[in-house]
Amino acid sequence: MARIAYVNGRYMRHDEARVHIEDRGYQFADGIYEVCLVIGGRLWDLEGHLARMDRSLEALRMARPMSRAALEAVIGELLRRNRLRNALVYIQTTRGVAPRNHAFPSAGVAPAITATARPFDLDKSDAAAERGVGVLLQEDIRWGRVDIKTVSLLPNVLAKQAAAEAGCAEAWLVRDGRVTEGSSSNAWIVTGDGALQTHPTGREILGGITRQTAIECARDLQIKVCETPFSAEAAKAAREAFITSATSLVMPVVSIDGAPVGDGVPGPLTRRLREAYKNRARSVR
Ligand code: PDD
Repeated sequence: MARIAYVNGRYMRHDEARVHIEDRGYQFADGIYEVCLVIGGRLWDLEGHLARMDRSLEALRMARPMSRAALEAVIGELLRRNRLRNALVYIQTTRGVAPRNHAFPSAGVAPAITATARPFDLDKSDAAAERGVGVLLQEDIRWGRVDIKTVSLLPNVLAKQAAAEAGCAEAWLVRDGRVTEGSSSNAWIVTGDGALQTHPTGREILGGITRQTAIECARDLQIKVCETPFSAEAAKAAREAFITSATSLVMPVVSIDGAPVGDGVPGPLTRRLREAYKNRARSVR
């Protein structure tokens, strides 16, 4: 069965899906995206992802390519055509196609929208969570508005590649001695007194939807959450560490720069939070 993608109003074979060479996303990274997890046919944290998409569009002064209802219908159709019940859905919107010129094109240029879906194996993710992952510390060299989910991800790409070359699954980005977030996830530690600590939202991190849901789960579990920055040293001395994202859910971090975190195995609080996240995400729209 051929894989199907959605491109500007049409469903087409994934291997034939194309965008124009003067798409502003291609030339200027002038666009935004979202990644949502689908489990058992249900989109997890959908409201959060759609609301963040609106915020990203607004921040770039881009028009919404379609209504929320229409977008939900596209995602549903994409899943149906790809016969997927467990999937990662990628949605990208750019300012559209226009002759190359940095300033916005004149009115009348429609935003471009594409969407793809690929299978997600929750069992495999659970197996990875049993082992935990390693992270590599990297300098955070990104721009001043990383709270906008733009497709401009070159520093993230370079950091992730450095991590991959070091045998790590993720890079943690460090600015002024403090860990801001991962290259494609939010960063957390468990402090000596058993509280969770993660960088506050603001312009220095992408406000993760999984991060927000994880905070709510922690509250339900009566685990204290401190939204304050932590240093690279504090991370290395932490009892436990983990990352959150739509693609990794809650994923234990067992080493930082090659040194074990805590006992070097997934920690108990992280395990509890992952379970709670999975249960909550299944039941809350
Ligand atoms: N990345 N921080 C960054 C820099 C990210 O790119 C992401 C997500 C997150 C976590 O956000 P959320 O919990 O809403 O997925 C934090 C996606 C998964 C990606 O780029 O593939």
